Amino acid sequence: MKFLIINGVNLNLTGKREKGVYGAATLDEINAKIASYCTANGDETEFYQSNIEGELVNKLHSAYLEGGYDGILLNAGAFTHYSYALRDAIAAIDIPVAEVHISNVHAREAFRHNSVLSEVCKGVVCGFGAGSYLAAITGLKDYLAK
Ligand code: DQA
Repeated sequence: MKFLIINGVNLNLTGKREKGVYGAATLDEINAKIASYCTANGDETEFYQSNIEGELVNKLHSAYLEGGYDGILLNAGAFTHYSYALRDAIAAIDIPVAEVHISNVHAREAFRHNSVLSEVCKGVVCGFGAGSYLAAITGLKDYLAK
């Protein structure tokens, strides 16, 4: 299977910002971990990051229109909590999307408790650092195998 892993706003600073919340691993290190986990299971990965909402929407559209992906992992960062544009893009595409967060958003500020994306995603994983992405891959694979 082939998975597209999309990280949104501010995730490029992972490993450099708020290390107590997001850990010391950089996004490149997290992505390398996901890639080796997937390779070991015979799966392929592709990675994308942008701080720009419209570019994330465009990436979801092109993944759908150009094809080639079985599933998508999306950590939209703060866009999670208010981007109806991303929500509509997820609803528009016929590829299962898993919502992922490094931190446990439910143990943090109230505004992080709500996601406008969850309703149109297949599932949500949060709070396990890089492990959230790995768990989401497992979840999507189980879903796709049915
Ligand atoms: C995050 C959680 C969001 O609330 C926050 O805005 C982020 C990162 C996470 O991975 O824990 O930027 O998506």
